[in-house]
Amino acid sequence: MINIPKDYQLDEIINHTEYLIDGEISSWKGKQANVYSTLLCDSEDKEPTLIGNTPEMSGEYALKALDSAHKAFNYGQGSWPTMKVYERIKCMENFVDRMVLKRDEIVKLLMWEIGKNLNDSIKEFDRTVEYIKDTIEEYKIIDRNGATFQNKSGVRALIRRGPLGVVLCLGPYNYPLNETFALLIPAIIMGNTTIFKPAKHGVLLIAPLLEAFKESFPSGVVNIVFGRGREIASPIMKTGKIDVLALIGHSSSAISLQDLHPQKSRLRLVLGLEAKNPGIILKDADIDLTVKECISGTLSFNGQRCTALKILYVHEDIKDEFLEKFTKAVDELKLGLPWENTLLTPLPEPGKPKYISDLIDDAVSKGAKILNRRGGKKQKNFVFPAVLYPITKDMNVYEEEQFGPVIPVISFNDISKPIADMSESNYGQQVSIFGQDVDTLGPIIDSMVNLVCRVNLNSACQRGPDIYPFTGRKDSAVATLSVHDALRSFSIRTFVASKDNDLNKNILREMIDSKKSHFIRTDYYL
Ligand code: G3H
Repeated sequence: MINIPKDYQLDEIINHTEYLIDGEISSWKGKQANVYSTLLCDSEDKEPTLIGNTPEMSGEYALKALDSAHKAFNYGQGSWPTMKVYERIKCMENFVDRMVLKRDEIVKLLMWEIGKNLNDSIKEFDRTVEYIKDTIEEYKIIDRNGATFQNKSGVRALIRRGPLGVVLCLGPYNYPLNETFALLIPAIIMGNTTIFKPAKHGVLLIAPLLEAFKESFPSGVVNIVFGRGREIASPIMKTGKIDVLALIGHSSSAISLQDLHPQKSRLRLVLGLEAKNPGIILKDADIDLTVKECISGTLSFNGQRCTALKILYVHEDIKDEFLEKFTKAVDELKLGLPWENTLLTPLPEPGKPKYISDLIDDAVSKGAKILNRRGGKKQKNFVFPAVLYPITKDMNVYEEEQFGPVIPVISFNDISKPIADMSESNYGQQVSIFGQDVDTLGPIIDSMVNLVCRVNLNSACQRGPDIYPFTGRKDSAVATLSVHDALRSFSIRTFVASKDNDLNKNILREMIDSKKSHFIRTDYYL
């Protein structure tokens, strides 16, 4: 009998039937999809726990959500895209005040729905609130910078950033709150209107926020629908009425959705996709620090992070020492339930344990060994992380983004080997480099900054802090996200220009004084 602390028990099945379209929260009368948690099914005889159900909405309703967003944007003439900046900021402040009231409920659901441990679930919530607050402050700066006229070659200009249109937001299951909101919030505040469909897992935790969205934003600015991607996103894309596809997830989904859009050049993309970030350990690396960073880099949230270290390269000279300490540290890790705050927790995707086991079997059948004692031990909702060595390019775990607990290791004598592999790779998000000698590190860093978009020195890869740019080369991303960059990604520079003569000068002066335009103004919100 598992003892669940009272605060984290789910008292009853959550029948979530509501959706938000056109400023109305309505109850879905059609088919519901069951939501299961894998937390408690640690052996074959136990089934996942039914924790709730959510609407499985139809394409017809997806199109209603689109119509609502379209009407609210109204080709840029709607009240939201033309609203004064400080009024949009007020709506966002109102939203965040309401959101914080739902903290405990959402943290609990993060644990049950995706198995994220308590500390990381709290961090995900708090980080999202901070992200919204930082976004508000950053928007004020952008607005302030746009409050000055320029005058060049006899042309006076007031240049600001304007919204792009209707945004379809699709987030990932591993950060169902934070990463989705890292798309949704900047899109909304810049004056776009949105349709948002939660990810495959982490759906119930969005329900407590419907009311806050409804009460904080005008009708049609935020539309929230539930269901399968194929049913919801596909018909929306086919209409050609989406201006921005904002998606964090797999490139296969991003590509198939883009392909459905009839006007490719109109469609802007903000995408965070796969990565296979390497950890590269040079011969003079501080072993203890490297082991610590590689443990968190490969296995935080069981490796289910796009920024996880997904392959390790170790210099031959320190391979034995590193692997001895690293495998020992992996075997010491505890698997537990989220409220026990262990690094390892059950995997939320029912098919994931088999997928990870298959990767291990494939590597072993091609010559790799499982170096750690507990590696590959399987239970229904988990596979204990296996440290696999030596990895060769014909193994699936070399190529595929495992997004789970398995650690492939390659050894090298010459740094040109990992660099050549990174150059050949389809991915280019981040790298971690472990070493100390400046003469060696300098040229390596110079190569790597042009292969990925963040080089982490003696540190695991990560997205945060959120004021830093988060992006990738090649197939890893389109556009850049950070508090500042996301506001740019969801907007476009647009301006009013006039020949510098008295007629125009007088018009502009009068317009500013009379406050007749929300765009032509030189004041700003403090
Ligand atoms: O899944 C990818 C996330 O952006 C990773 O973020 O590095 O903060 O865990 P993180």
